[in-house]
Amino acid sequence: HSIEKGLYKWSAPSNIALVKYWGKKDHQIPANPSISFTLNNCKTLTSLAFEKKEGNDNFSFDLLFEGKPKEDFKPKIQKFFERIEQYLPFLKEYHFTINTENTFPHSSGIASSASGMAALAVNLMSLEKELNSEMTEEYFFQKASFLARLGSGSACRSVKGNVVIWGNHNDIDGSSDLFGVEFPNKIHENFKNYQDTILLVDKGEKQVSSTVGHDLMHHHPYAERRFKQAHENLSKIKAILESGNLQEFIKIVESEALTLHAMMLTSMPYYILMKPNTLEIINRIWKFRNETNIPVCFTLDAGANVHVLYPENVREEVLELIKNELVGFCQNSQYICDEIGFGAKKL
Ligand code: PMV
Repeated sequence: HSIEKGLYKWSAPSNIALVKYWGKKDHQIPANPSISFTLNNCKTLTSLAFEKKEGNDNFSFDLLFEGKPKEDFKPKIQKFFERIEQYLPFLKEYHFTINTENTFPHSSGIASSASGMAALAVNLMSLEKELNSEMTEEYFFQKASFLARLGSGSACRSVKGNVVIWGNHNDIDGSSDLFGVEFPNKIHENFKNYQDTILLVDKGEKQVSSTVGHDLMHHHPYAERRFKQAHENLSKIKAILESGNLQEFIKIVESEALTLHAMMLTSMPYYILMKPNTLEIINRIWKFRNETNIPVCFTLDAGANVHVLYPENVREEVLELIKNELVGFCQNSQYICDEIGFGAKKL
């Protein structure tokens, strides 16, 4: 049936990869599988207002950020609509007003593309669902993840929680290159409410975008070996998430972070996204871990910020370390406390 106008609002969280996605094929197909913790506090809230319009030759939309017009994201959304139109044939029949805000400070160096694209995708699926009422919840979220992937690869891991796998992998039934799936087995108690404190080391625009970085994995001297390693690490981390072995968890997660950056260091052209304070923080986390045996570790995204990961039961000790020591290496002493969370929510 037909719907004249309406409004939806959803939130979608950011996510932090444990085994990293770095390198892709055409149509946003990942070169290797990845796995992430969905976050809880770092979210994008997006409302989608829609109204039937005259004619259906073009996409028509307004973009607002915190209620104010935001022109610079328009080409990104235009490209996203072009990519997903074949899966949502109603797109050109409506005028959309997309209003977005983030719970984390903008220009914090926290990528909002994952949470942003996931939030937009679930909103569009709400309209798709109203137009075709026969739809299971499973289909709804799977297709939302599929669409989010076409906006920004890692966004497909932000629709569901609390541990999501994206990319075909032999050990994981139902895994797919096309959308993220929830971790299929029971996750050990040790990972319940797992903490992620994000230390904001550098809030500036990064020198090389992720899009360019992914592209540099084509003809990269170590690409094939790296893709193989990601498969191996995914098998290992699957077993670790079930057994709760934190020592082994730390090894994989830190190695993955440094390998991601090693791929950047060995690209042609080569580049460095870590800052001196990134390395200071890493060294201090290692020192603290050696001295206390507290199972705290770090991971990195494609940037200088450090994600500090640790179990809930050592929260006080780690926050103490952060407040007394690590905060000195953060820009304007800024950090964000987050933890593992549950995916997109209708508001
Ligand atoms: O989703 P993109 O294209 O922004 O790529 C992000 C890749 C990393 O954040 C570096 C790793 C990952 O798996 O999230």
